Amino acid sequence: MIKTNLTFLGFEKEILDFDKSILKDLENKLIDKKGLGSDFLGWINWPNDYDKEEYSKMKQIASRLRKDIDVLLVVGIGGSYLGTRAADNMIRGLLPNDKVQLIYVGNTISSSYIKQVLDYVENKEFAIVNASKSGTTTEPGISFRVFQKKLIEKKGKEIAKKRIVAVTDKSKGALKKLSLNEGYETFVIPDDIGGRFSVFTPVGLFPLMVAGVDTDLLMKGSQKAFKDLKDINNEAYKYAVARYLLNTKYDYKTEVLVSYEMQMQMYTEWWKQLFGESEGKDNKGLLPSSCIFSTDLHSLGQFIQDGTKNVLFETIIDVKKPSYDLNVPKDDEDLDGLNYLTSKSFHEINQTALKGVIEAHVNTGQVPNIILEFDKMDAEMFGYSIYWFMRSCAISGYLLDINPFDQPGVEVYKKNMFKLLKKPGF
Ligand code: PA5
Repeated sequence: MIKTNLTFLGFEKEILDFDKSILKDLENKLIDKKGLGSDFLGWINWPNDYDKEEYSKMKQIASRLRKDIDVLLVVGIGGSYLGTRAADNMIRGLLPNDKVQLIYVGNTISSSYIKQVLDYVENKEFAIVNASKSGTTTEPGISFRVFQKKLIEKKGKEIAKKRIVAVTDKSKGALKKLSLNEGYETFVIPDDIGGRFSVFTPVGLFPLMVAGVDTDLLMKGSQKAFKDLKDINNEAYKYAVARYLLNTKYDYKTEVLVSYEMQMQMYTEWWKQLFGESEGKDNKGLLPSSCIFSTDLHSLGQFIQDGTKNVLFETIIDVKKPSYDLNVPKDDEDLDGLNYLTSKSFHEINQTALKGVIEAHVNTGQVPNIILEFDKMDAEMFGYSIYWFMRSCAISGYLLDINPFDQPGVEVYKKNMFKLLKKPGF
């Protein structure tokens, strides 16, 4: 479902010849839980080992909620929301015609945004899913208070109780305590799965079920990736080695993930978190950045083509089959001179842009390009590609000799903020 095309890099052979015993050794550390961060490897076997009973219960509650609501407010930040939003956009598109709309809150402290959402849901039937592994993160915590209060005001405590679901630790944290106290349904984020690796847990699955996404197909995709990655000569590790060499041997500092599909924008945000939080430590790692083309060809495209050299390389997601396609309409008068395009579909024109830009960036601009060929953009592809990236990120982190599963840098700002806000104990 994903092919890593390295033909535009100029050193494909070096990547294919990379010492397999090194990769095997790193993979063994991962699978046998003997490497750095081994307490957080629950996600590896999760596509097959997920809690089936909890999964059925989530489905039941999601289908009940779908009947009653127009909007699901998804409260969460970082790993507790990015994967859900990436899936929602990639699978359902940016303007889905499904009955239930997902709106993301708790990922910002912007009062202007929160007020707008409050006004928006005033006359809507809504429910809330609050995802926080620690249960103590400030952004989702204070947003949840606002929307919980609104829901209770509008519908009363009894109905609100049926419309609020928490996804959190099985026993610890303020959110767990609050939920037990209020009688809210809770689903579990397993101890050994960190935020950015948690989209296949209730963090991602529950809101996606409420949104009507085929999560069975999504999990099938992750299982297929699990199988395909059994062989060490796999496409995900090829990608990991390519970016590792670009970084450490050829001294590139930034990787720009490019998609030609608007509905993949949040996917690139998820990817940035995955690689940025996993690898950006001990003064190591590539800076993950992203663009949507052709949109950003009219902004960052200039820098990529002609700006400072040997700083960045591009990884292009080349989606072979769009969710929909349409033709450029014919116009008898042809005043805009565009009739020459009417024999082509938008996707064909988009693909032509992709080919032309690769040619321009690689040959004229001397910017290395890795191409990741994706079959399509449905739930199966989402599950497949997300698991694929998680595995490549884990191996990539081990190649750099860092712990890809912690995020000590994030804690620094959290503690500073608590101190400034005079949180008791800080
Ligand atoms: O990947 C991570 O671990 C982080 O991005 C967390 O998901 C984020 O900080 C939110 O934490 P929590 O789910 O505890 O509210």
